[in-house]
Amino acid sequence: MATKQPGVEPDQTPESLDECRRCALWKDATQAVPGAGPRHAPMMIVGEQPGDQEDLQGEPFVGPAGAMLDRALVEAGVARQEVYVTNAVKHFKWEPRGKRRMHKTPAQREIDACRYWLEQETGDVGPKVIVALGATALKSVLRNSKATLQATMGHAVEHEGHAIVATYHPSFALRAPDPETRERVYKAIVDALREAHRLVSRHHKAR
Ligand code: URA
Repeated sequence: MATKQPGVEPDQTPESLDECRRCALWKDATQAVPGAGPRHAPMMIVGEQPGDQEDLQGEPFVGPAGAMLDRALVEAGVARQEVYVTNAVKHFKWEPRGKRRMHKTPAQREIDACRYWLEQETGDVGPKVIVALGATALKSVLRNSKATLQATMGHAVEHEGHAIVATYHPSFALRAPDPETRERVYKAIVDALREAHRLVSRHHKAR
């Protein structure tokens, strides 16, 4: 039988994100970081989890990955104010390295626990197109722990009434060992955002 972790209630139905104890990540985070953007945005962008800056400021994508996302949005002709931006996991998972807090990839059980919130946001916002940045976001959005970027990138897939466009996470570009890879990954992100924008426009025209 799985041992019960103190302060964790996997079946909890919390009233607010701040009270969430569905996994243990709340313990080491400064605060939960909800999504941000217009209530009925036609495009939703889903990242992995808040980073160091997001954890401190309480807003998604305000650190270095956010700066790259902002640049890519501008290049793709998408206004950030028109997009709902959120994460698959709402608390920062990290480990200490010297004085720094280093990002740690969330475990599947943490992605599953936090889907409770992502599904509420998706239901409230009702986006036509969801852009999944990276494998964690894609797994959560598709509710499939085996989903891979390789299998999904380059073509939108229909899922529960949303068009899902998958691409790399900006942090992958930021961590790239050489400028060529960085540029190639960044370009793929811009292309995915352009495609998402095209799908949103097509949906508007069809109405
Ligand atoms: N990376 C993410 O996935 N989300 C953020 O909000 C910031 C960095």
